[in-house]
Amino acid sequence: MTDLDTVLGNAGPTGLKERIAAELEAVRERSLAYTDTDDEMLVRQHSPLMSPLVWDLAHVGNYEELWVLREVGGIEPLRPEIDHLYDAFKYPRKDRPSLPLLGPAEARKYISGVRGRVLDVLDLVDLTDPAPLRSGGYVFGLVLQHEHQHDETMLATLQLSRRPGLVRDGELPPGRPAGEPEVHIPAGVFTMGTDTVAWAYDNERPAHRIYLPGYWIDRHPVSNGAYMEFVEAGGYRDPRWWLPQGWEWAERAGVEAPLFWARDGDTWWRIRFGREEPVPPDEPVQHVSWYEADAYARWAGKRLPTEAEWEKACGGRGYPWGEADPGHLGRWANLGHRAARPAPVGAFPDGASPYGVEQLIGDVWEWTDSWFQPYPGYRCFPYEEYSKVFFGETYRVLRGGSWATHPSAVRTTFRNWDYPIRRQIFAGFRCARSED
Ligand code: AVJ
Ligand code: FE
Repeated sequence: MTDLDTVLGNAGPTGLKERIAAELEAVRERSLAYTDTDDEMLVRQHSPLMSPLVWDLAHVGNYEELWVLREVGGIEPLRPEIDHLYDAFKYPRKDRPSLPLLGPAEARKYISGVRGRVLDVLDLVDLTDPAPLRSGGYVFGLVLQHEHQHDETMLATLQLSRRPGLVRDGELPPGRPAGEPEVHIPAGVFTMGTDTVAWAYDNERPAHRIYLPGYWIDRHPVSNGAYMEFVEAGGYRDPRWWLPQGWEWAERAGVEAPLFWARDGDTWWRIRFGREEPVPPDEPVQHVSWYEADAYARWAGKRLPTEAEWEKACGGRGYPWGEADPGHLGRWANLGHRAARPAPVGAFPDGASPYGVEQLIGDVWEWTDSWFQPYPGYRCFPYEEYSKVFFGETYRVLRGGSWATHPSAVRTTFRNWDYPIRRQIFAGFRCARSED
């Protein structure tokens, strides 16, 4: 970059284009790594809850085609006859294996053809154009985050498949939990949501002021060890701790412990990507439903935090530790599949929020008490099927991302949501309680 570029104001957009190109390459490398296996594995349905992996693969390409090529690039459909197959609202997941989907080789060819043209559009597009899909590269942020979300979904599918050897694992810092187990957040007004984060989704907007009375929130997510105490105390057999719908669900589904746990004598074991291992007591619990999290909290004499309480505990910055992008340095949080597991509680003291609350970002998605609802002043953009059709009293909000979430796809204001019975996602929780 020359001084002239800087003078002409090209420095920002040029740097931005380079960043987008690098991120597009990285996310595709990730998607291809998760699907670098035999065809049978890719086309099979591992669980009625999940699509075959080959569906996710072609779907991310189709989404990229719709938004970048057609919507922004004005390019004619490459394969209009396949659109309906990859429309997430047309066919339920359980029916997807019987559709005439692109096979693995065809899917790879299709998505790489789309990607080539996407890079051409990126070259030509003016990212300073105020049109909202172009401004600041919004449409590229949209497809990048979308592909990373599906990569996380693919990891959940791979975990459900119980087939060993497919998923990379790595080292994590040890847990050194320090400080009081609960943190007090004083009463007062804070700003929830954002008007300024460039690639924020419509559901994170607009920023709005919220008053919360003082409350306590756990410094760390609830650990496997703490959760085992609930199990051992007969928590799953005592309806006092459960909401009626949760109790009914647990009885009908025969749920007695987190998904992937099994007891052998006195020891709890788990299956993690096809490997059996004792459940590590110091890791945040994962693979629990909202109903289980809610029951645990009641048993512990607490409750789940609302999403406003969760967000306020981050301390009003882009990330709990400040504005620095989490990147891959691994200093502040366990994100981006560095390891195929959550880090032990107390592993990231540097990632604490100004209040001293730790591991809000990464490790496990955290269930909150809140339904997925629009913020006051919500405006749908760019399409209804990302957020709007899910608002209501059907889905509970999850915050903070998991070990499987890419740094570009999570931040303080990011909102995820799912059914309260879901357990295959990488979700845990922390507790809160009101002032006495
Ligand atoms: C935001 C994770 C609930 O994966 O179902 C993917 C994101 N939207 N494709 C999902 C999404 C369209 C969504 N979640
Ligand atoms: Fe999608």
